[in-house]
Amino acid sequence: MYTIADFQKKVEENINSQQFVSKPEGLYKPIEYVMELGGKRIRPTMCLAACYLFSDDVDKAIEAGLGLEVFHNFTLLHDDVMDNADVRRNRETVHVKWDENTAILSGDAMLIKAYQYIANVDGKVLKEVLDLFSKTAMEVCEGQQYDMEFESRSDVMVEEYLNMIRLKTAVLLAASLKTGAIIGGADPECANNLYEFGENIGLAFQLQDDFLDVYGDEKTFGKAIGGDIVANKKTFLLINALQLASGSLQENLQTWISLDTFNREEKVEALRNIYNELKVDDLAKEKMAWYFDKAIAALNKVKGKESMKAELNQFAMNLIERSR
Ligand code: IPE
Ligand code: IPE
Ligand code: MG
Ligand code: MG
Ligand code: MG
Repeated sequence: MYTIADFQKKVEENINSQQFVSKPEGLYKPIEYVMELGGKRIRPTMCLAACYLFSDDVDKAIEAGLGLEVFHNFTLLHDDVMDNADVRRNRETVHVKWDENTAILSGDAMLIKAYQYIANVDGKVLKEVLDLFSKTAMEVCEGQQYDMEFESRSDVMVEEYLNMIRLKTAVLLAASLKTGAIIGGADPECANNLYEFGENIGLAFQLQDDFLDVYGDEKTFGKAIGGDIVANKKTFLLINALQLASGSLQENLQTWISLDTFNREEKVEALRNIYNELKVDDLAKEKMAWYFDKAIAALNKVKGKESMKAELNQFAMNLIERSR
């Protein structure tokens, strides 16, 4: 019998056993660097767990899991360029350690590598897995585009934000679970319920990521605090603050958002104070709890090993309450 902890270990061992480096090293070294930086390995872990719900042979989901993790790390390389982020997993990001061109090209190579891993899944389910992966990858790009476009808008509605994070973050978690389910031989209804579970967990997961960007501890979170505030990212916190603030608080908020040059610490501190005053952090936590409940309702409809379902429930809870 397997536990989620077993899958995390399995995934880690598998990643460590991969040979990412080849020639020219300038292309491949950054791939090895980012893949060996650690990270929570949520997506391949979920893929294996979903497979195990329906099949004892989880090894057949390993390659797909690797593909999902490489794809995720590829999105991080490009995301850090787009977000101007210097630190990830407590280390320099690729575009800082090397340069932007490297982050772009090594990222491109990782996307190809991800497809190579996915292509190794059993021929019987390959088409279905590949189609899901391609659809998901395109959605992530769509979400990332919205994320950038929203930076320069101040009329973004909560619904638009939720759709944006569904695309940039939630669908990949959902697809990871569904991929594992397909490989494990789940019936379509179960696979779709797992997708729904992942999608709702993913929404809560990104809400928590936005929360930690303001309230997290830099060392634990592994990323610089306040990056979203500096870039005027339309997070759940900022959108709600823009809607709720009135009088001098609204003026204050508008001033900070409109400044082209500012002291980073001062802006982060000022916005955090506004968020605290308006209690938008509580709103974010409520929203997360709401998505968590929705996720569990979907998980409860899934057939398969009850012990693994219980573990997935706990795993999801830990993800939402995480500090890194
Ligand atoms: C970071 O994802 C990007 C988001 C979707 C918030 P993770 O928090 O899963 O990153 P790692 O892989 O564990 O570092
Ligand atoms: C993550 O959004 C979305 C993707 C990487 C696709 P963020 O930009 O919030 O992720 P972090 O905070 O940099 O990890
Ligand atoms: Mg981003
Ligand atoms: Mg980012
Ligand atoms: Mg973030």
